[in-house]
Amino acid sequence: MRFLITAGPTREPIDPVRFLSNRSSGKMGYALADGALSMGHEVHLITGPVSLEPPHDAVVTAVESASEMFEAVKREIKTADVAIFCAAVSDYRIEEVAEEKIKKNDDELVLRLVKTPDILGSTRTEFNFDGYLVGFAAETENLEANAAEKLRRKGCNLLVANDVSRSDIGFDHNENEVRLFFADGRREEIPRAEKGEIAAKILAAIEGDL
Ligand code: PMT
Repeated sequence: MRFLITAGPTREPIDPVRFLSNRSSGKMGYALADGALSMGHEVHLITGPVSLEPPHDAVVTAVESASEMFEAVKREIKTADVAIFCAAVSDYRIEEVAEEKIKKNDDELVLRLVKTPDILGSTRTEFNFDGYLVGFAAETENLEANAAEKLRRKGCNLLVANDVSRSDIGFDHNENEVRLFFADGRREEIPRAEKGEIAAKILAAIEGDL
């Protein structure tokens, strides 16, 4: 089968040398790509800027911003059977990117932010994707309710939720702990483990649900 996997953060430019981003390292998404390849699947990895070596056998598209990731997913999802959205996409971008480096002339600087396109939220409606859709949810509160709501609203078959308020898992850690929410109401806990092991269990859950 053909997997499309998004990974890593996005960078939203402020001026030629500054950007808005987050702490995603890409480890979780890259572990999913590695795992899918070792199960014999084809993988197209769409990745934000990270310092990891991409898996050799994956087709890789490197992007920077949320809008670049949106365009890459829109183009590549047509041929995918399974799409996994693990990237930590910035929800906002700077409305007007400065052409020159911003000078520190004033005591305050106000940046106006506007929403980025919702890539996962566009897959069923705008991209007409009818394959198996996996979203992630990075939550700091009300994990159960927020995850169940995201699963439904974005038309996912599976939602993988992690509690990113914890200091031992999630963003930039080697380990994670996740809860799976399936569209038919089933739930599954995957206890804390290395991201490679978590990825293998998520992929096994997907295969079992196909
Ligand atoms: O990269 P690591 O350091 O290994 O960390 C892994 C992780 C914590 C980033 C990963 O496990 C994770 O939780 N990824 C999703 C992060 C996130 O942005 O979650 P969210 O709840 O804000 O977004 C919900 C879903 O919508 C996600 O599937 C996200 O990819 C997607 N999204 C979000 C915003 C947007 N504009 N477009 C999107 O497609």
